This record gives sequence, C-alpha cells and structure tokens, in this order.
Amino acid sequence: MEFGIKSGSATSIKSACVVVGVFEGRKLTPSAQALDEASGGQISQILKRGDLEGKCGQTLLLPALPGITAERVLLVGLGQARELDLKGWKKAHAEAVGALLERGAGDAAFCLLEAFPRGMDMAEALRLAVLAVDERDYRFDQFKRDKNGKRALKRVNFIAGRKEARELEEPLRQAEAIAGGIRLTKDLANMPGNVCTPSYLADEARRLASLYTTIHTEVLDQSAMEQLGMGALLAVARGSSQPPRFIVLEYRQGPEDGKPVVLVGKGVTFDSGGISLKPGEKMDEMKYDMSGAASVLGIFAACAEMRLPVNLVGLIPTVENMPSGHALKPGDIVTSLSGQTIEVLNTDAEGRLILCDALTYAERYKPEAVVDMATLTGACVIALARFPSGLLGNHRPLVQALLKAGEKSGDRAWELPLWDDYQDLLKSNFADMANIGGREGGAITAASFLARFTKNYPWAHLDIAGTAWNSGDKKGATGRPLPLIMTWLMEKAAQG
Ligand code: BES
Ligand code: MN
Ligand code: ZN
Repeated sequence: MEFGIKSGSATSIKSACVVVGVFEGRKLTPSAQALDEASGGQISQILKRGDLEGKCGQTLLLPALPGITAERVLLVGLGQARELDLKGWKKAHAEAVGALLERGAGDAAFCLLEAFPRGMDMAEALRLAVLAVDERDYRFDQFKRDKNGKRALKRVNFIAGRKEARELEEPLRQAEAIAGGIRLTKDLANMPGNVCTPSYLADEARRLASLYTTIHTEVLDQSAMEQLGMGALLAVARGSSQPPRFIVLEYRQGPEDGKPVVLVGKGVTFDSGGISLKPGEKMDEMKYDMSGAASVLGIFAACAEMRLPVNLVGLIPTVENMPSGHALKPGDIVTSLSGQTIEVLNTDAEGRLILCDALTYAERYKPEAVVDMATLTGACVIALARFPSGLLGNHRPLVQALLKAGEKSGDRAWELPLWDDYQDLLKSNFADMANIGGREGGAITAASFLARFTKNYPWAHLDIAGTAWNSGDKKGATGRPLPLIMTWLMEKAAQG
C-alpha cells in the first residue's frame, strides 16, 4: 500500500473514490457538504431516504455524482460528533477500506482529517489512520495458491489543507515505517512453525542488518551459549532437533554514548509444552509463541526505516519446545546464566526459562531500561481477556510511560502488581526457585520469576499472550505491541 498527502478540495480530486465523513444525525462534514453542494444536493437527498444515519463505521458507496471529479463517493459514518474517539477513528478508516476493497477501487482520497477526534493532534490522527488502513488491507496469503485476485487498493491519499499537508509529510513517513514494522511482525508470527524456526528468525535478523546499515546483528549458536552458561535456555532447547539461537541486534542512532534501551522478545517458535505436553485443542496457535521475537524485529525495522534517533539493543532467545528422549523433564534442576538454580516443575513454563538468561545477558549493556515482550501466560488472558497486554515492572516512571504510550496508541496495557508477597509462591525444596508458582496469579508469578533476574536495571514486562494474535475465524497475528513500543520510543526520541 502506498500513502500520500494531498491538498485540494473534495469536489475536484481526481481519484477512483473520494471518502468523506457523515456524523450521526446525518450531519455532513465540510468535505461532504462541499460534495453535496457541487452535486446539487444529491448527498442530502440520499441521506434523507435513510440509507445512512452516520453511525460510526457505517459506509455507503455512491456511483459518480455530477459536478464531482472523483469516480465514486464513499460516505463513512463517524458517530456522534462529540463522541468520536481513537477507537471510532480507527474503525471508520478500517470500514472504509473494507468497502473499497469489496468494490475494487484502485485508489482513494480520504477527506476525514478535518474531523479528527479531540484529545489528539492531527499528526497523531494521521498516524492512527495509516495504521488502521494498513491493518485492514493486510493479508497473509503466501501459502495460498489462490490469492483472491490482485490487491485492489493500491494507494491512499489523505487530503489536508496546504499548510497542514506540508506539516504532515514527516508524520506520514513515520506512520509508513511503523506500518511496515507491523507487517513484518505479523508475517513472521503468522509463518508456520515448520518454516519459522530459530534459525529462520536468525536469518531474518541478518536480513535486516543487510537491508539497513544502521542495524547490526550477531547470532550466538549452541556452543557459544554453552560457553556463556545459558543453562536455562539450553535446557528448553534440548528436546527439539531444531538448534537454538540467541540473536543480538544493535541500532545506535541516539546520543553518542547514551545508554541503550534493551528490548527482549520471547522466541519460542513452537510451544508443544514439552514433556508437560499441552492438550491438543488450539495447539496450532503455539506457533505464535515467538510473537515477542517478531515484535523486536518489527521494531528494529520501523526504527531504522524512520531513522529514529534512539539507542536500541534487541535480544531474542529462540528455541522450539518439544518432547523427546532428550527433553527437559519435570523435576530437573538447571543453572541459569545468573548462577541461580531453577527446579523445573513444569516444562510448559519454558518462556521464563529462556527469558531469564536473556535478561541476565542484558546487564552487559548497562541499559537505561529493559522491556521484554512475551506470550508468557494463559493466566494473563484469563485475568485481562484479550484487550490489554499485561504490564509489570520494577520502575514506576518506566511503567507509567509505557501505560501512557499504550493509551495514546490505542494499543493498551494494564498494570498488574509485582509485590514481594508473590515471591513466596516460587519456593523450591531443592533449588533456588521453582519455575512455576501454582494456579493462582499465574501472570504475576511468571513476572515475579523474571524479576529475580532484573534487579540491576529499570525493567518492564509485557505479557502479550492475549494481544499478539486473534483466535477464531479472525485467526492471525495483530502486530501488538508495536504501536505501544513505537509510540514510547518516539516520545523518548523527542525528549532527546
Ligand atoms: N506460551 C505459553 C503461554 C500461552 C498460553 C500463551 C496460551 C497464549 C495462550 C506458555 O509457555 C505457557 O505454556 N505457560 C503456561 C504456564 C504454566 C505451565 C505455569 C500456561 O500459561 O499455562
Ligand atoms: Mn509453554
Ligand atoms: Zn510458551
């Protein structure tokens, strides 16, 4: 999808389709008003007949109207004018794209920026619009022979005033970079486990380094990890014939000698549960257990594409969790990179075992902050459903900044407590800790486990088990938490 900004009036745009907004109560936005006047009142006549009330996301496609240069007009409901919010704004754009794809319009001119919601500025509104459009247009059909025809909608132009159009060029480029990162994250996460293995993710990280001179990639193989002493990570990998990888990415475009932000992504390319085998239902979805890793790669691509002035390190511990004669067993005790020993009471709690070694490795970068992203617990989905990501951390300002970025981007997180009380639940009779804390508070005990490895820097953990992909007939990766993290990083870059 290509995006552009143009100035001009809705009536004289040359496009396959001009998109204008209608508020509830059939109230026309200025562009809709202009089209109505140019066409001799055709739009108000159609609305009077009751074909569109203006409920948010309603659409009505009209064929060519007299006095208008665009070949078609798409009316989009924006809901009550005072109530239009971020969610409605995204919905209106997504539904508009849905209608355009259905009709096969090759390009469209969106005249909705004149009606962007309160509480945000026009640049933010544009970024959200781009992401909503790109999201609705996304398909993962690499493995389908029949690709449902050629992609119809090739270009979307946003219409703005002359001065605004100039000011929006930069936000548009940024939004396109984020959209590209989200696509990459989704593609990787949607990729089946037989293709997307730990080595595949490593190749992908190397590909980014060859695509962008600002990204540097280093990949540690099994023997390098053995030498370091990543005993927890290696224990998980043992059951699989796919060799593990530890991927390190660096992007240093921020202040020279500035401490980096370290992003850690869980990269379990398939989580069968191991010897503590998962039940069969929906087990296919465990190909998504590398969504955190995919997010790290997407974030690096987006930052490099927009040349964001930040210092970033990405760490991706990646393994396949399988049962076999070599596999890790319940009761086994492993020694982590930190030296702390772990009694493995459940081999399905593998995410924390690979993350703990990555979190210890992060110390060598003397990070300003470490944020890990992991599809860590089913318990997080039980606690919060699939709307927010779970957020826990050991540093108030970091947690607050991430919560705020979540609100601003519409990719929200919700904080869970990380009190010391929970540490008791991880006691082991035979090692320094157990890898599970029992049925209660599973998302919190998982984070409490990680907290034992993150004492030396500000750290936050995003449990994205409920947000990284959709189940059911809309099954597919969501690209979350890219919008949240990118918003946070851009805010950081702006603060210098
Ligand atoms: N990858 C899963 C978490 C998960 C489960 C994500 C369902 C999305 C949907 C993780 O490795 C896991 O299996 N966690 C266990 C932990 C338990 C054994 C303490 C879980 O959540 O059941
Ligand atoms: Mn598991
Ligand atoms: Zn897992």
